[in-house]
Amino acid sequence: MDKKIDNLQQKREEALLGGGKTRIESQHKKGKLTARERLHFLLDEGSFEEIGMMVTHRSTDFGMEKEKYHGDGVVTGFGTINGRLVYVYSQDFTVFGGSLSETQSEKICKIMEMAMKNGAPIIGLNDSGGARIQEGVVSLGGYADIFYRNTQASGVVPQISGIMGPCAGGAVYSPAITDFILMVENTSYMFVTGPNVVKTVTHEEVTAEELGGAGTHASKSGVTHFACANEIDAINHIKKLLSYMPQNCEEQAPALAYEAGDESRPALNQLMPENANQPYDVREAIEQIIDEGSFLEIHKDYAENIVVGFARLAGRSIGIVANQPAFLAGVLDNHASVKGARFVRFCDSFNIPLLVLEDVPGFLPGTDQEWNGIINNGAKLLYAFCEATVPKITVITRKAYGGAYCVMNSKHIGADMNYAWPSAEIAVMGAKGAAEIIFKKEISSAADQEAKWLEKEKEYSDLFANPYRAAERGFVDEVIEPAETRAKLIKAYRMLENKVVNNPRKKHGNIPL
Ligand code: HXC
Repeated sequence: MDKKIDNLQQKREEALLGGGKTRIESQHKKGKLTARERLHFLLDEGSFEEIGMMVTHRSTDFGMEKEKYHGDGVVTGFGTINGRLVYVYSQDFTVFGGSLSETQSEKICKIMEMAMKNGAPIIGLNDSGGARIQEGVVSLGGYADIFYRNTQASGVVPQISGIMGPCAGGAVYSPAITDFILMVENTSYMFVTGPNVVKTVTHEEVTAEELGGAGTHASKSGVTHFACANEIDAINHIKKLLSYMPQNCEEQAPALAYEAGDESRPALNQLMPENANQPYDVREAIEQIIDEGSFLEIHKDYAENIVVGFARLAGRSIGIVANQPAFLAGVLDNHASVKGARFVRFCDSFNIPLLVLEDVPGFLPGTDQEWNGIINNGAKLLYAFCEATVPKITVITRKAYGGAYCVMNSKHIGADMNYAWPSAEIAVMGAKGAAEIIFKKEISSAADQEAKWLEKEKEYSDLFANPYRAAERGFVDEVIEPAETRAKLIKAYRMLENKVVNNPRKKHGNIPL
């Protein structure tokens, strides 16, 4: 027996070395951690249980039968993060560049299925040269097997993708289906076709970093939700992100202990500028309303006219969607609409209540917006709010104009509670534009046209640039002092804790994709 145990130990030691010491050194020289080091930092100490350590590939072409490594380029298993179960896979670049073989795919699929059966999040750490070139179509099939399971798991358990190295070609579509992507600056990249192919086809000269680095995807494409300074930063972000989520779609996110205190926030009474056209940073409102320091902003550098992220209110997780007057006046455009919609869908999938802070002058006009589908994209946000059944609360802080009023979680599309600050302006359009349309004839025949314009603008503004018309109708449940917002929200979410809404039975809706 002793010999057999020695044999096991030897195999384990070989497996721990992946592709060998030289390749590990080369990984470190690139400023990257190994697959196992990443798991070490991600999981609670001593919690990792490996599955499939002895798996090897079955390929025989190109002399591959002579080169085999235990684990075949991916470390898979389960462990805990802050005591909560997670399933993990971490691609090992030291073994055939972490490339995806048939057996590597089988290992990943196995833990994805276990995660779905047992209701716990899946975290994938990607670092791979793509399809195992020596295996051909078998490897492509392996990718498709993963994509299929990503889709099956979507909305069942949270799925998070850390991109720690290359992720190119079709391989990008697994992370793209998952809920959140985190990339590491300077050492990771994602693209469907690399710089060489781009040069051949479009004659553009572009580096890998410019084409698909973390900064590019965080600000230009919105593909990644986070651009992290280094791998440890990415791993810490994954842990933090998970803390706001439940384990699966049947559960609630964990609540932190909370001691009630003075919930009034007088600073909010001073936040709104005197002039309604002046900007302010909506993050200041968010920070006042939520539990101190609990905001985790998502997609921070993308579509900055809308701010989304997780926070805690009286210890409980909420998802915040807020127009940002400090960027493009908080207007809704194509990117902001899609960003907001995707976030609302995630929160609703995983029972995270929604809070909307509304200050929106409307949808952005222009050919660029129309030709790029603001009709469809705006509809995505509208659809997402309409379909969401989690507790939904809106606070109209200032502008709520036109279609954007309807879209931003209005009472009419199922918001449970709608509050407005006294500074709210709720109307079809701004007073100037409205006066120009409805009083055109009257003013064109007036003696002093300029004075008449101002008079009519004021008349419209006095009538509609306030929250009381909407409150008279019950479209706004209560007009509140800004300082009361936090206290009101804490009570309202508590009141909504047992909310049950069943949308009509259907196979699935047809969201305007
Ligand atoms: C097999 C691979 C591999 C691959 C890398 N390796 N990619 N082996 N299949 N796809 C091996 C290398 O042979 C090398 O082996 C080791 O991994 C490290 O690779 P290097 O090139 O030395 O590393 P580096 O200089 O850092 O470059 C990394 C890289 C490059 C940029 C990822 O390796 C590369 O371009 N690889 C090929 C990428 C690719 O075209 N993949 C297919 C994409 S199509 P040794 O023995 O020297 O350590 C695709 C389709 C998926 O993925 C479709 C899904 C639907």
